[in-house]
Amino acid sequence: MIEFNNVTKVYGNGTEALKDVNLKIDKGEFVFVIGPSGAGKSTFIKLLLREETPTKGTIEVNGYNLNKIKRRHIPQFRRSLGVVFQDFRLIPNMTVYDNVAFALRVTNVANRSIRQRVPYILNLVGLASKARNYPSELSGGEQQRVALARALVNNPSLLIADEPTGNIDPEMSLEIVELLNEINKCGTTIVMVTHAHNLVSRFDRRVITINHGNIVSDGSEWGSFYER
Ligand SMILES: Nc1ncnc2c1ncn2[C@@H]1O[C@H](COP(=O)(O)OP(=O)(O)O)[C@@H](O)[C@H]1O
Ligand SMILES: [Mg+2]
Repeated sequence: MIEFNNVTKVYGNGTEALKDVNLKIDKGEFVFVIGPSGAGKSTFIKLLLREETPTKGTIEVNGYNLNKIKRRHIPQFRRSLGVVFQDFRLIPNMTVYDNVAFALRVTNVANRSIRQRVPYILNLVGLASKARNYPSELSGGEQQRVALARALVNNPSLLIADEPTGNIDPEMSLEIVELLNEINKCGTTIVMVTHAHNLVSRFDRRVITINHGNIVSDGSEWGSFYER
């Protein structure tokens, strides 16, 4: 599903954000990516989304070779992914319903399917009763659940989340990760970047630790990195 081979990313100003990274994530996995600020986590995500291209090495995601993908195929590639960010990125003048429906409207999904799919997804994230509300009328945790609904409404096989709990309180954060857990059980592969180690330690999942652009641990031994 995701494969990085000898991937190095050097930004224009000379910053080496990732150094010779090798990594494989299989279909159906739930992977946490952790590491200190500036470690290279978001760079990893941007390369996955093809918002950035590697300086060296090859990247394959969802069957697309991102080194060779044609520009005109990038939108189609991105639609095979669901993405959630720390800052939600909801459209303020659209209701919860329309924020989610928008993701389908832009891909020319038939209205009839939209009217079925949106309520189904809002129900899944526990927001059926907020469909007519605007983002500003919701708590942070609720806004993130709208963002999650929007990311899931296209039924992506891979969900990518960059610090999705960074702007919400610990209790709500736990709810979000529990929701991601349920989504993963239904077969969606999940890659979640987070700072919240307490959150990670509550779930028995694969943990990839990045530091200074290197993968310094991969698996269950992640705690040892932070104890050093
Ligand atoms: N667009 C950019 N141009 C130059 N340097 C960048 C850019 N984006 C990130 N960096 C640098 O790359 C390193 C890794 O950043 P990032 O991937 O955002 O880390 P993290 O998400 O783990 O905090 C940092 O030193 C950061 O300053
Ligand atoms: Mg980051």
